[in-house]
Amino acid sequence: MRLLLTAVALLPVLLNGQDKVDQRAQGERLFSLKERGILESKCLACHGEKGKKVKGEFNLTTRNDLLKGGETADDVLVPFHPDKSLIMTAIQWKDEDYEMPPKENDRLTYEQIE
Ligand code: HEC
Repeated sequence: MRLLLTAVALLPVLLNGQDKVDQRAQGERLFSLKERGILESKCLACHGEKGKKVKGEFNLTTRNDLLKGGETADDVLVPFHPDKSLIMTAIQWKDEDYEMPPKENDRLTYEQIE
């Protein structure tokens, strides 16, 4: 009986843990399928390609560097808060100091921003 109670008590913890695993797997899938290609073709030339100078001291090649931010901002990417993340403002060209990628005809499409 005690074992059963323990199992029932632990169930939410276990299920919640599973949720996190699922969320992470989903995130990684989305990243591989949709985001990696955009970052590679639109950002890496200036933000972390091997052998090239990293612009704005902002390296996009690892999760740690991404979370660390660049020369002016440490809130480039605030997990779960796109509204507070400079990267979102920058790719939408909402702040004239940060319009990324900087060339007008390289701008991301609406779908890519989504
Ligand atoms: C042609 C080069 C180039 C490309 C391509 C480029 N950037 Fe940048 N980025 C810069 C430069 C230069 C800076 C430094 C600030 C400035 O001069 O505007 C910068 C700064 C930034 C910053 C601010 C970092 C900080 O803390 O100051 C962010 C965020 C950023 N870029 C995101 C991106 C993203 C996301 C992409 C791709 C969608 C991208 N950039 C593509 C050149 C580029």
